[in-house]
Amino acid sequence: MAKYLFPEGFLWGAATASYQIEGSPSSDGKGESIWDRFSHTPGNIFDDDSGDTACEHYRIYREDVRRMADLGLNAYRFSISWPRIFPEGSGKPNQKGLDFYRRLIEELHNYKIKPVVTLYHWDMPQALQDQGGWGNRDTAKYFGQYAACVFESIDLPVDRWITLNEPWVSAFLGYALGVHAPGLNDFNIALQAAHNLLLGHGLAIRSFRDIKRKDEPIGITLNLNPIEPASDSKPDLAQAVRTDGFMNRWFLDPIFRGSYPQDMVEVFSRSFDLPDIEEEDTAVIAEPIDYLGINNYTRILVRAGSSEDDFMGNPLNPPEAEYTEMGWEVYPRGIYELLTRVHRDYGPLPLYITENGAAFDDKPDKDGRIDDSSRINYLQDYLIEAWKAMQEGVLLEGYFVWTLMDNFEWSFGYSKRFGLIYVDYPTQKRYFKDSAYWYRDVISRNGLEVQGGAQ
Ligand code: FCB
Repeated sequence: MAKYLFPEGFLWGAATASYQIEGSPSSDGKGESIWDRFSHTPGNIFDDDSGDTACEHYRIYREDVRRMADLGLNAYRFSISWPRIFPEGSGKPNQKGLDFYRRLIEELHNYKIKPVVTLYHWDMPQALQDQGGWGNRDTAKYFGQYAACVFESIDLPVDRWITLNEPWVSAFLGYALGVHAPGLNDFNIALQAAHNLLLGHGLAIRSFRDIKRKDEPIGITLNLNPIEPASDSKPDLAQAVRTDGFMNRWFLDPIFRGSYPQDMVEVFSRSFDLPDIEEEDTAVIAEPIDYLGINNYTRILVRAGSSEDDFMGNPLNPPEAEYTEMGWEVYPRGIYELLTRVHRDYGPLPLYITENGAAFDDKPDKDGRIDDSSRINYLQDYLIEAWKAMQEGVLLEGYFVWTLMDNFEWSFGYSKRFGLIYVDYPTQKRYFKDSAYWYRDVISRNGLEVQGGAQ
């Protein structure tokens, strides 16, 4: 029997995002978000679904918090919907929106579950998008104001704050590939959006320090992937460096080193307009943070693309590997590689895995049991690799499964199930999957016990 014990005080959580679970898109004065607009536009979402109903969490959040307690979670990561607080993007805050999140936090406290709050998980007020969204520098300023308003108004203890979730996805899937809201296809604007997102992050950190919330660490969550060359050939090796530059270093370097990576500045400048950067921006973006949140699901294996300016390369799916319903390779070793690399290149600093998980085609059997052993294997193998990274000095302080319950998976609508809890959408009933019981045991033991392991 192998045992993998985690340190005392380790955060064991699950994560969600406002648009993916809340529903109630116009309750209590909420304004329209870019995801409301995008998903109501036919052709953008699988089955033309939207988050209008989702998990009805806005209405039945108390039940959901009770289930979190049944699971034994000691932390819960959720996001605040910006247009619930600023329906028009700026101006006067909407008290009823703030009250909802206060009630949610109070409820979490009642069960001794630590709130981990993300300020932006992609649902920007549509009113700001009408002025260019993240392509417009003013949006960074409005984000800073929204952040300050939340820091001041939510005067209840929050255990960790996260400014942005995955700015890479916001910028490039939203503004260059058009598969996420706002659905644009312009790489120049995407580069500017990435810069303005980072600026908004830095402004939020500055207002946090001004307001001086005591003992509450604040950081950012990036989607990071280990990038590996398909072979040892020179072009494949060079490609892996560029893909890493685009996907990882373009965000890590300005935050931790105060400048964009020079190799990528050169690559981008040969084909695109570099973003407008004002003098103080790099210092704002590099405002010190207390920890880094990492979302990781897979690795990227690349073969060289068509030219030396190709920053994506040709991703490969090795035939012998296992894949989730998203088509993402199950690659637990990747999280070890990633954590040790971030620790070495940008740390040491506290790290959190703010998302990790897998979609599988879960179905209740005739007795209502949901046997998701593939998810259990996935989570277990990733956790073991994270544990191994910790033995090498990586300061990992918490782990959040994506996600608490099945929900609206962006352009995939309701067709992908990532939850520990199964949601039957027509009745809104929730059922623990086997992985939920498994996770409950992991939390109660503060670690894993694995049959036949080598440890
Ligand atoms: C991440 C997102 C999260 C969810 C998972 C599967 O990129 O942050 O909302 O969609 O992927």
